[in-house]
Amino acid sequence: MLGRVNHIAIAVPDLSAATATYRDALGARVSQAQALPEHGVTVVFVELENTKVELLEPLGAGSPIAAFLEKNPAGGMHHICYEVEDILAARDRLKAGGARVLGDGNPKTGAHGKPVIFLHPKDFNGTLVELEEV
Ligand code: CO
Repeated sequence: MLGRVNHIAIAVPDLSAATATYRDALGARVSQAQALPEHGVTVVFVELENTKVELLEPLGAGSPIAAFLEKNPAGGMHHICYEVEDILAARDRLKAGGARVLGDGNPKTGAHGKPVIFLHPKDFNGTLVELEEV
């Protein structure tokens, strides 16, 4: 069911500092910052040969990553995103197996304009899993 790793997301308290770390210390190609108000984050994409890292900073009140950063003030790995061919088929199979889909269970449009769902970390070894249809 799973395809490639689409991205790994890291929540950070200071997006410019984190961007500078990836660009200068690690020598990576980084995008301009993009505000995504509908997702409550500002994001910078670190473009790698085989995948992307997304640096996420909270945007606005009630950001979905605010609580995570309260628990992890220095930042931390927030979720991993795997590609699937058919997100509704993937969701239904996971739900039938007892996995919990976050939110109302319906795909939302993710940061790349593709449908995504998030799966409860307690069902996946303590890691928040995003599935993205490609
Ligand atoms: Co993501």
